[in-house]
Amino acid sequence: MRNRGEPVDVDESSAESFPASDPPSWTTSGSRREDPAVAQPAAPPESHEEGTEELFPTKNDLPQNARAPLCELLNARLADALDLASQCKQAHWNVKGPAFFELHQLFDQISQDAREYVDLIAERAAQLGGQAQGTVRAAAQRTSLPEYGACGADEREHLQAVANALAEFARGARGAVSRCNQFDDWATADIFTEISRGAEKWLWMVESHLFTPH
Ligand SMILES: [Fe+2]
Repeated sequence: MRNRGEPVDVDESSAESFPASDPPSWTTSGSRREDPAVAQPAAPPESHEEGTEELFPTKNDLPQNARAPLCELLNARLADALDLASQCKQAHWNVKGPAFFELHQLFDQISQDAREYVDLIAERAAQLGGQAQGTVRAAAQRTSLPEYGACGADEREHLQAVANALAEFARGARGAVSRCNQFDDWATADIFTEISRGAEKWLWMVESHLFTPH
């Protein structure tokens, strides 16, 4: 797939349930950065509470009360994509066995695609006036993916761990499509549709290696 794809204490559903008709007060009068009377923070807010995404001014005509929760959604899925990329590298580096080379390459290809998802998602957040939260630390806090489950070299353990990550990642991407449609944000929905298609393709390929005929 080339063209396109809380913390445990951050409930994704809270970002996805943010009412478009009830934006936080600071989103209704332009960016905080536009108002010199407002003290500027040294760094973007760390909070992941709903509606706290800081927006930059933009002529994008999606309303602010849609762009704020969309950026939260994008950052949640960005964390998942970063986590997916690193988990696949973990598999790429550590897998051993008769199918080593094939799996070594497969896991690397999935990681490369996940990196493309990262870029698509992060740049879409920026296009909507948001700020991509793409550091390793931010991703570790926000990811919804399960902890990587393979600690040895066994091929099937790594395949199962990557399948688990892909399944959860695909679930999140599919849910994001629905959420974007609720805001009439077809462009972001298209990105997540493409990501969803790619993730499910990789899940099929990984699960095919786990198949055992009876
Ligand atoms: Fe490598």
